[in-house]
Amino acid sequence: MTSVPTGTANSLSNSQIDEKRDAAGERLITVYIMGKAYEVPAEATIMGAIEYAGHQIIRGAGCREGYCGACATIYRLPGDYKIRTGLACMTLVEEGMTLAQIPSVPAEKAIYDIEKLKPNVSAIQQMYPTVFRCVACGTCTKSCPQGLQVMDYVQAAKRGDIATVMDLSFDCVVCGLCMLRCPAEITQPLMAILAKRLYGRYLRKDSPELAERVKAVEEGVFEAEYADLMAMGREALSERYYARDSE
Ligand code: SF4
Ligand code: SF4
Ligand code: FES
Repeated sequence: MTSVPTGTANSLSNSQIDEKRDAAGERLITVYIMGKAYEVPAEATIMGAIEYAGHQIIRGAGCREGYCGACATIYRLPGDYKIRTGLACMTLVEEGMTLAQIPSVPAEKAIYDIEKLKPNVSAIQQMYPTVFRCVACGTCTKSCPQGLQVMDYVQAAKRGDIATVMDLSFDCVVCGLCMLRCPAEITQPLMAILAKRLYGRYLRKDSPELAERVKAVEEGVFEAEYADLMAMGREALSERYYARDSE
């Protein structure tokens, strides 16, 4: 994300920016939170900046590491017309950024019995008919902080291509930003969850590796390791977590 030079009242020259440091020597920049100017560390995330400014975040925060999707936020940069979107825990502040609280996105979740649905277009038609209102504007794709091809998975849903919806939406964190910006009021991530459930129930191939691992769990092969983990303190557990092998 790049900052746009402004020429507005909010803009500050480089020398002014360099002059502003806090007691710990951290460079400070000015951001606007609900219209009020605050000086915050230049390296802060939006979430960190809001807290540094003295606000307590009582909803819209969870993992703080870009996984849970709870912290969807919108902002503007000086001199830039666009309403930008991001995860507050992952997006760094920029000079003159304007931040505002957003109300929750009304997103009605369809209630269904997966056993009574088939993995085809009629399940989408029945449970998420709004998908067919898509005008292919691409706003959802541009809004997605995960960089997902949201419009493409919506199009796949319209064709009943459940496997492609599952594949393209796999890394969705259900932040809701695509829904927030969609002019057709489509609930993309909820529809994608339905597609993933349909895929899991009807289309996925059996995995011998998974079956083997489940059997090992059931036989108690990992009981000693679980006991070790349960006995660990928070810090040691956190260290162990980040040192793990991950794909
Ligand atoms: S697809 Fe939508 S809900 Fe999922 S991560 Fe992207 S913007 Fe968020
Ligand atoms: S924002 Fe809505 S209407 Fe536009 S492409 Fe995405 S799903 Fe379709
Ligand atoms: S707090 Fe979990 S993704 Fe930001």
